[in-house]
Amino acid sequence: MAAPNNFHDNDYYEHDPRWTAVDAYTFSHLHPSSQPNHDALAHALATSRAAGLPDISTYPNLGKYIALQCKTSRASTALEVGTLGGYTAIWLASANPGLRLTTVEVDPHHAAVARDNIAHAGLSERIEVILGPGTEVLPRLAEEVRQGKRSRFGFAFIDADKENNWAYFDAFLGMAEAGASVVVDNVVRMGKIVDPSKVDDDGEAGARRLIEEVGRDPRVEGVVIQTVGEKNYDGFLLAVIS
Ligand code: DHB
Ligand code: MG
Repeated sequence: MAAPNNFHDNDYYEHDPRWTAVDAYTFSHLHPSSQPNHDALAHALATSRAAGLPDISTYPNLGKYIALQCKTSRASTALEVGTLGGYTAIWLASANPGLRLTTVEVDPHHAAVARDNIAHAGLSERIEVILGPGTEVLPRLAEEVRQGKRSRFGFAFIDADKENNWAYFDAFLGMAEAGASVVVDNVVRMGKIVDPSKVDDDGEAGARRLIEEVGRDPRVEGVVIQTVGEKNYDGFLLAVIS
């Protein structure tokens, strides 16, 4: 069964009322609606839904985790692959005041919605949205870095077509600062990465390839953290580049 476009109206995803309640409780204390980026984030989700984008953006606590991981990396430049409606881009830039973010999106409609949301958040000066397939855009960015036309990146968030996870990760290694960190979303997929009947599916195969390549690559150290929440049982890979 293909993943549906909506997390809530189906039996495809696993749910547990405790996961939802814990997210709601913790987030209400750790990121109350008085926070300065609250309205811009809510606006980005509302316009994304109204414009018919798939309901697959990072959920609030993962968005904040990614923004804090970027802060921990002391990154001044970041790369995102898979902009969707700009929700995570707004998290990254709003939580990291000096950050310059480059975000890559293959779908023109998604990119247009994201640009509007980023403008509404007042972040257009610091977020560059590049339209195009990551498999073409990332090698071009890496070449610009090699030629000294673009700064190296201190952080990356990869959340796009899963079969190209390793291609994106590998391209990032060629344009990252020493000590940069990378988060790759959706590498657990309800445990399907270890289900023998699923390991040939595009997403699961892409996650397994990434994990196995990172495991044998002497340039990086990585770990996978499984997550649960309102939106699913999944997980992310965190890697640090030496
Ligand atoms: C799904 C979830 C994601 O976070 C994503 O980036 C793509 C797909 C999903 O569960 O279908
Ligand atoms: Mg994702």
